[in-house]
Amino acid sequence: MAAWKVLVVGAGGIAGAWLPVLRSERLRVVGIVDLIRERAEARAREFCPEAQVFTDLRTALVMCRPDIVLDLTVPEAHCQVTCAALKAGCHVLGEKPMADSLRAARTMVRTAERMNRLYMVSQSRRWEAQHDRIRRTIAAGRLGTLTTVNCDFYIGAHFGGFRDVMESPLILDMAIHHFDLARHFTGADPVAVYCHEFNPAGSWYRGNAAASCIFEMTDGIVFTYRGSWCAEGCPTSWNGDWRLIGTRGTLICAGDQEPYGEVTAGTTGFTRPVASLEVAHSPLRHTAMRGALRELLAYLRRGVVPQTECHDNIKSLAMVFAAIESARRRARVRVTW
Ligand SMILES: NC(=O)c1ccc[n+]([C@@H]2O[C@H](COP(=O)([O-])OP(=O)(O)OC[C@H]3O[C@@H](n4cnc5c(N)ncnc54)[C@H](O)[C@@H]3O)[C@@H](O)[C@H]2O)c1
Repeated sequence: MAAWKVLVVGAGGIAGAWLPVLRSERLRVVGIVDLIRERAEARAREFCPEAQVFTDLRTALVMCRPDIVLDLTVPEAHCQVTCAALKAGCHVLGEKPMADSLRAARTMVRTAERMNRLYMVSQSRRWEAQHDRIRRTIAAGRLGTLTTVNCDFYIGAHFGGFRDVMESPLILDMAIHHFDLARHFTGADPVAVYCHEFNPAGSWYRGNAAASCIFEMTDGIVFTYRGSWCAEGCPTSWNGDWRLIGTRGTLICAGDQEPYGEVTAGTTGFTRPVASLEVAHSPLRHTAMRGALRELLAYLRRGVVPQTECHDNIKSLAMVFAAIESARRRARVRVTW
C-alpha cells in the first residue's frame, strides 16, 4: 500500500519532535508549511529534504493533496488550519489544546462532521505506560469506588515565545494535559468547577501562570488541581504528581516514578491495616506522540475511533474554559461543551 501523504503545518519546537516519528512510521511528508519560511526550510533540510516548503496553507493543500494534515501551529491558529484541512478532504491530527476558545472548537467538530473526516487531538501524555497502569487499576476497581483525585503541578518554566503573552498560559497550554488525564484515569466527565487563577508576584508571564481548581466530576468524584508555571525550585513531574483515592485505598503517582498504593487489609483499628495495592500492568507499546499517531493509523486502516477524537476531546477543553470563566466570575461554573 502506498504510504499516506502528510502535510505538516507549523515548523516550530514541537515539529522537531514529530518529524522523526513520522519518518520512523514510514509516512511520506510531502510538505511543510510555516508563516516563517526559514523555519519550514530548516525542518525540511533536517528531516525530509524531498518535502516542498510553503508559507500559505491553501497553496500547500492544492499542490500536495495530502491524506493527513498534522496541525502543529499555535493554539490561536488551530481552528483556521484544521478547518481548511478538513474542507480540503484531509484527516487531521492536531496538537493540544484543540483551540483557543470553545466556540472555535465547536466549529472544528462541526466541520469534521460535515466533511466526514477524522479530527483527533494529540494528548501525548495519555500514551505513557504509568498513566495506562493508573487507568487500568481504577477501571479494574482495585481502589473500590473512586471518590477523590488530586493533581499538583509546579514548575518554573522560562519559555519565551507565545506562552509568555497568553492570558491563561497555565490553564490553556499546560493544565489541558492534566485535565485530560483526570478524565482518562477516572473515565468520568466534568460537571462543574470553581477556579481561582492568578499570576504570582515576580511572575515573568503576562497572563495568569498559576491556578487552583476544584472540579465536580460525574459519579460524585472531586478532582482538585493546583498548578503553577511560575514556581522556582522543587519541581513536580511535567505529568503532575497524582493522588487517587477510592473506598478501598489510595494510589500515588509522583515524580515520574512507577505508581504505587495501599488498600485496606482489615476491618479494625483506628487506621485500618493496609497491604500494597496491586497496580495493573500496561501492554502499551507505542508511547507519547507515536501512540497518538498509531491511533490515527488504526482509524485509517480499520476504522477504530481514537480515544482523543474531537467529540471526546472537546470535553477536556471545556474544563479549561469553564475554569477560566469561573476565575473571571469568581463563581462555580457548569462545564458544558
Ligand atoms: N504535547 C506536548 O507535550 C506539546 C509540547 C509542546 C507544544 N505543544 C503544542 O504544540 C503547538 C505548537 O507549539 P510549539 O512549541 O511548537 O510552538 P512554536 O511557537 O515553537 O511553533 C509554532 C509554529 O507555528 C507557526 N504558525 C503559527 N500560525 C501558523 C499558521 N496559521 N500557518 C502556518 N504556521 C503557523 C509559527 O510560525 C511557528 O513556527 C501548541 O499547540 C502547543 O501547545 C504540545
